[in-house]
Amino acid sequence: MKIAIIGTGYVGLVTATCLAESGNDVVGIDKDASKIQVLESGRLPIYEPGLLELVQRNRRESRLRFTTDLAEGIRSAQIVFLAVGTPPGQDGAADLSSIWAVADALAEHLEGPKVLVLKSTVPVGTNRQVAERLAARTQVAVDVASNPEFLKEGAAVDDFMKPDRVVIGVRRPQVAEVLHELYAPFLRTERPFLVMSPESAEMTKYAANAMLATKISFINEMANLCERMGADINDVRRGIGHDARIGFQFLFPGAGFGGSCFPKDVQALMYMARSLDLPAELLEAVYRVNEGQKRVLFRKIQKHYGSGLADKTLAVWGLAFKPRTDDIRDAPALALLDALLAEGVQLRVHDPEAMPNVRAIYGDRLVYCDRPYGALEGADGLAIVTEWQEFRNPDFEIMRRLLRERVIFDGRNLYEPKTLAGCGFAYYAIGRKVEGN
Ligand SMILES: NC(=O)c1ccc[n+]([C@@H]2O[C@H](COP(=O)([O-])OP(=O)(O)OC[C@H]3O[C@@H](n4cnc5c(N)ncnc54)[C@H](O)[C@@H]3O)[C@@H](O)[C@H]2O)c1
Repeated sequence: MKIAIIGTGYVGLVTATCLAESGNDVVGIDKDASKIQVLESGRLPIYEPGLLELVQRNRRESRLRFTTDLAEGIRSAQIVFLAVGTPPGQDGAADLSSIWAVADALAEHLEGPKVLVLKSTVPVGTNRQVAERLAARTQVAVDVASNPEFLKEGAAVDDFMKPDRVVIGVRRPQVAEVLHELYAPFLRTERPFLVMSPESAEMTKYAANAMLATKISFINEMANLCERMGADINDVRRGIGHDARIGFQFLFPGAGFGGSCFPKDVQALMYMARSLDLPAELLEAVYRVNEGQKRVLFRKIQKHYGSGLADKTLAVWGLAFKPRTDDIRDAPALALLDALLAEGVQLRVHDPEAMPNVRAIYGDRLVYCDRPYGALEGADGLAIVTEWQEFRNPDFEIMRRLLRERVIFDGRNLYEPKTLAGCGFAYYAIGRKVEGN
């Protein structure tokens, strides 16, 4: 099939590449000329494991190309995907300005009938509004369908290639058939292709993210209680996770959830409820717990150093909002950096992939270290915010030698408190009772 994808960010680029990989003829369109230039030179504007090789192969085999020219890009496409950003606005509502801008541009340039698929996460009712907006501006027949995306950054290619399910919201069954044909190569292991109304599909995406965010805030609240009551959240987590009704997934306590989806989607859903005068008490609590959790590590640091904090130098490992991505949107690490900088703390930071994005915001207010151990040199302690695999088994002997004071503030519970105590470290984790702290 001939496909156009508008928006070549984390979702659009993965979608474009995976659809090209299954044999379609795909063009990725973006208004950001520098992004298109990078892609056309065979490089990636983002870090996503496994993606570069696929982009390069599909470009070589002429199934994938990129352009800034929307009119030309959509001309021969049968299906046009929208994967532009829908960031939170001032009031928490999803900012749909990119969706409207693209809809208007499409209306101007459409020459023949198309299926328009909204992959961006959009408030319930947006598909209908896009269809009405197009109908008011063009005579060309357009079917507007919803196809929310569930991929995880860091495992996006795998998630797209082997989805747990594909959700489609359509008004006409014929449109579902076209999309089923497109997705069939990814559903060979009997993965479900779920067809529903656009409204239900739009809501499915918000409900999924709200549920996952709820699990994280739940376990974080339990962790904070454990810590004060002398229990260990890791034991409690194991104790509940073996219950099949509860399970282990998304029940890891930490420094709060971040990223471009959970915080914004929880806020957008709260806003939708508010604008209908409906209660969203659970969502509000989930959001509030998370805002508090993003300060937990800072409070431990503040308590440890007391009034001497301003004179300290701290190392920070992990800046991306989660491992295996360079995405720092709403990352808990940034909340910690801001709080520490406001106290006058000197910071030596390391992240395997996210440092260019962090540098673009913080400039020379931070010292950027290429290696994790390099960040420890002359530091009075280490804070860990993102659980990159390479932080899990460090050489504690080297760390002992490099750190001026042997103290670790672990926002992801990577280590065994007993091991750390044995190596002479003061160790602060999340929801774990550690002798002496
Ligand atoms: N990132 C994720 O993990 C994820 C997962 C599921 C769903 N989503 C949703 O998918 C959507 C996209 O997310 P993302 O993380 O890929 O965003 P992103 O910011 O990485 O990418 C959006 C892209 O759209 C482009 N764009 C904006 N306006 C445009 C226009 N008028 N014409 C052409 N291009 C335009 C931007 O330049 C950018 O490259 C959002 O609605 C998000 O909520 C994201």
